[in-house]
Amino acid sequence: MKRNRRRSLAVFPGSFDPMTNGHLDIVDRGLAVFDRLRMAILLNPEKQPLFSVEERVAIIREAYRGNPRVEVDTFSGLLVDYAQRVGASVIIRGIRAISDFEYEFQMALMNRRLNPRIETVFMMPAESYSYVSSRLVKEVFQLGGRVSDLVPAVVLRRLREKYGTPVRPGRRARVKQGARVKQRRRNG
Ligand code: PNS
Repeated sequence: MKRNRRRSLAVFPGSFDPMTNGHLDIVDRGLAVFDRLRMAILLNPEKQPLFSVEERVAIIREAYRGNPRVEVDTFSGLLVDYAQRVGASVIIRGIRAISDFEYEFQMALMNRRLNPRIETVFMMPAESYSYVSSRLVKEVFQLGGRVSDLVPAVVLRRLREKYGTPVRPGRRARVKQGARVKQRRRNG
C-alpha cells in the first residue's frame, strides 16, 4: 500500500530558560507520536531570562545535534498563528502535576477558540521529573546544589560558564549549622 501521509509536525513551545531533562523527556515522548517536533522559544521582552534567546537556541541545537527530527525556532505573537504558519497542527505541553493543569487547560481552550484546527496534546514526563522546573534548577545551581542529573550536559556547562561553580558549604559545615539551628530552637 502506498503510504501517502504528510509528515506530522508538532510544536513544543516554551521559555526553555534553560531546558531541563523534563523537557528532554517530553521531546522523546513527542517523537514517539509525531514525525517532527519543533521547540519554539517565545520571544518575550517582558521577561528577564538568564539565557538570551540566542543562547537558548544554541543549547537546544547542541543537545539535539544529529537528530534531524528535532528543530528549534523562536516566535512572537500568538502561538496558534505561529503553529499554523509553520504547518503544525499540534501543540505539545508537558504536565508535571495537577497544579500545572489549570493554567494549561485554560491556555489550551483559549488556543482552541483562537484556532480550532490546532490541537493541544498534554504529555506527562517521567515521575522522576515531576518536581523539575527551569526556575528551581537555576535557584539550586546558584546556591551550590547539584543539578547534574536534572539538566543535559550542555546546560550544566553553560550554567557553570555563567555563574562559575558555586561553592556549597561542605557536609561537616552543614551538619554543624543544622545542629546550631536545632540548639537555638530548643533554647526557644
Ligand atoms: O515555558 P512557558 O513560559 O510556560 O511557556 C508559555 C508559552 C510560551 C507556551 C505561552 O506563554 C504562549 O504560548 N505564549 C504566546 C502568546 C500566546 O499565544 N498567548 C495566548 C495563549 S492562550
